[in-house]
Formats: sequence, C-alpha cells, structure tokens
Amino acid sequence: MSADRGQFSSRLGFILAAAGSAVGLGNLVAFPVMASKNGGAVFLIVYVLFVALICFPVLLAEIAMGRHSRRNPVGAFSALTGGHQGWRWAGKLAILTPFMIAVFYTVVTVWILIYLFRAVTGGLADLATPAAFGDMIGSPSIFPWFVLLQIAVFGVLLGGVKGGIERMARVLMPTLAIMLIGLIVFVMTLDDAMLGVRYYLVPDFSRLDGAVISAALNQAFFSLSLGMGIMITYGSYFSREDRIVNSGRLVAVADTSVAFMAGLLILPAIFAFNPATNPDDLSSSSVGLIFSYLPQIFLSMQEVVGYWGASAAATVFFALVFFAAMTSLVSILEIPISYMIDELCYSRRKAVLVQAALVTTFAILAALSFGMSGFLTDFIPYGGAQKSFFDLIADTFSEVILPLVGFFACIICAWRWRDGFMAELAVGDDGFGNSALSRYLGFSLRTFVPIVLLFVFINSVAQKYF
Ligand code: PFF
Repeated sequence: MSADRGQFSSRLGFILAAAGSAVGLGNLVAFPVMASKNGGAVFLIVYVLFVALICFPVLLAEIAMGRHSRRNPVGAFSALTGGHQGWRWAGKLAILTPFMIAVFYTVVTVWILIYLFRAVTGGLADLATPAAFGDMIGSPSIFPWFVLLQIAVFGVLLGGVKGGIERMARVLMPTLAIMLIGLIVFVMTLDDAMLGVRYYLVPDFSRLDGAVISAALNQAFFSLSLGMGIMITYGSYFSREDRIVNSGRLVAVADTSVAFMAGLLILPAIFAFNPATNPDDLSSSSVGLIFSYLPQIFLSMQEVVGYWGASAAATVFFALVFFAAMTSLVSILEIPISYMIDELCYSRRKAVLVQAALVTTFAILAALSFGMSGFLTDFIPYGGAQKSFFDLIADTFSEVILPLVGFFACIICAWRWRDGFMAELAVGDDGFGNSALSRYLGFSLRTFVPIVLLFVFINSVAQKYF
C-alpha cells in the first residue's frame, strides 16, 4: 500500500468530509430547480423516501467496500471479487465517471465564482436575464477564473486527506450551515413567502408521475455522491474502529437537510418576489433559468433591505454555493487521484498534477461548448436535438451512468461479498447482526434496490438518447 494513502483523523472528520462532498450544487441549485419543476411537496416526499429506502443502503455498501479494501474503486471492486477482471472494468467506470463529472462541475463552479465576484463588486444586475447569462458563459473572459479555481482546488488536494480535505471541510461545513439558516430566516420575513412554503410542503398528489419518480431518484443519487466511487474512496480513509452505519446515517441526514433547506430558501423567494407565480409555469424551470433568476431575487431585495443589505445577502449566498461546490469538486477529483496513488504507485504530488492537467484540458473544452467553438457547441446529435460536448458529458455521467455503478456496488455487496459486507457494518456494533436494519439491508440490496437501479438506468438511456 502506498505511503501516500491518507486517513481521516476522526469519525467527525470523515462525516464532515463526506457531507462536504455530498452537499454541493446538487443540493443548492439542482434540488430547488427539480422541486419547483416537479410539483414541490410531491417531489420532496418521493425524494426523502428514495434517500431512506434505496440510497441509504447503497451509501453503506459503498463506504463498507472502501473501508474493507482500503482501496480506490478499481482496487475495491477487484479485491472484493477475488481479482475478477470483469469487475475490475466495472471499477474503472467508477473512476471515469467522477472524472467526467469533475469536468462539467468545474465549469459550473467557475460560473458561481463569477457570480460571487459580481455580488461583491456590485455587478450582479448585469446577469439578471437569460441572455446576459448566456453571454457570460460564452465569453473567453471566464478563463482567468478557471486558473484561480484550479489553484484553490488542487492546492487543497495537494494538502492530502487530513491536512487538505478534512481541514477544509471542518471550516466550510459549519459556516455553510449558519449562512443558509440566516438566509432562510430573512426570506421567511418577506410578504408572500408563505405561498412558496405551501407549494413546497403541502402535497398535490395529482402531480405524481413517472417523470417525478425518476427525477427524484437521479437527484438523490447525485446529491448523495453515490454511484461514482466517492463514498468508496472516502470510506477507504475511514478508521477501522468507527461505526459505518451511524456515520453514514449522519451524512445522509446532513445532505438531505441541506437540500430541504435550499428548497425552503429558493421556493419561498420565488413566490415572495413574484406573488403572481403560477405553479404550473414552474414546470419549465432549468438551471439556466435559476442562474438568471437568482440575481433578480437579490435585486428585488434591494427594495426591502437597501443596496448594501442586498449586496451583503447576495455575497453570503454565492459564497455559500461556492464553498459547497468546492468541497464537492475536491471530493470528485480525489477518486482518480486515489486510483493513481494506489494502482499506478504515483506520489500524491504527481497524481494531483497529472489530474490538474487532464481536468483543466477537458473543462476548457466543455466551457468552449457554449458558443466559443462551433464544433464543440454542435458536437453530436441525440435525443432529437444537436447537443454540445458539455451536454454530452453532463447528461451521460451525471444521470445515466450513476445508477449503473450503484447497481454494480449492490451486486458485489449483496452476492459476491455478502458475509464480509455484513461483518464490516457490524464492526464496533455487537447488536447489528440481529437488528431490523441489518435484515432490511440484506434484503433490499439483494432484491429491489438493484432492480430499481437497473430500471432507472435503462429508462435514462431510453429517455436521453432516443
Ligand atoms: N453530491 C454533489 C452535489 O450534490 O453537488 C456532487 C458530487 C460530489 C458528485 C461528489 C459526485 C461526487 F463524486
């Protein structure tokens, strides 16, 4: 085992780092968009059920695989299946997927960094329409921000597991929680905020359909950082003495609470600033729309709290989103880095530098697909439209592949490595073997969880590409 393999200093260190990975753009940007689009409260209920019944078992499976094998996903898939070549290839999918997610996640994090800068310097108003947002993301002026972001992210990764990742999470995660609560309290004081609260919390079951269900499962998977090897990798840095089940539960609760709170911030804000909002119009929400909508929220806030108050709130909000994105980005990149350290015997330094070069190159190509390069903008036709290089990566790796990798992890834990898996979960917890949870995990991972994941995979392939 390489000397460059790190370990978290404590259980809390693991929980904060894993929650730091899980809490990101998925919670603060995608979740409110998905909730507003898919019927508000109905989406929330289905989402929470999926987290508890399907994602939690997969989360524990991934952490256990990592901790037992003390390896990156390829090493873990191979070690737990007796060195089987086919499973090794499945493990490679769990390295490629996070790499590709890191590529598009880097681009979106750069946008957030620019919003943060504009909030601080007072130029947010210029980004308040979809057209202005489109101009911003299609302009070469974003590239200096790339350099800044990459220095910050790879600087943390060079610091290693304890000195870089854990230290960052210890500072940023509590800060993030405090900022979020402060902003929610502010929004709740606004007139008409309760219209949004009602849409978000009182279910209208007539909105429940297949699209809501599959959106909720994909969102839950992405949000918990499942199906991409991150929990395997972070699990491999988790101390042998601590209990996986309790820590995993805290990570799932923290991630879901932040998503819930982000919804409680954004949905009431939409209604407070636009009391005439018709919930049916929200079905066309998109990430692009949210990006142009957010500055509008802060602009209208000026009337209530004045220019400086609104600028301060905008700065806090975008700093929050940026910190969350940064802890997630670091975690995604740690997966290919751990692969290079374990399997290719690179030093951490060399692995970090190679990754920095690779991710930056691909991320620049992805950023060019918003108009700067015609070839990359109209890269490939599928699903009835001409898609960009960015779209191809985002669609394929953030949705389609995740359930497939999650499916592989289930099969390994439920069939190939079953007794070892249960024993790993029982470490430090004598009563676990006879608990209802252990029976539920054994049953669910062997039966409906993989079936649902396979179904969602096939459904996503059909929907996206055909
Ligand atoms: N879970 C993160 C989010 O919700 O934004 C995104 C993410 C982190 C995806 C880590 C993948 C990953 F490995």
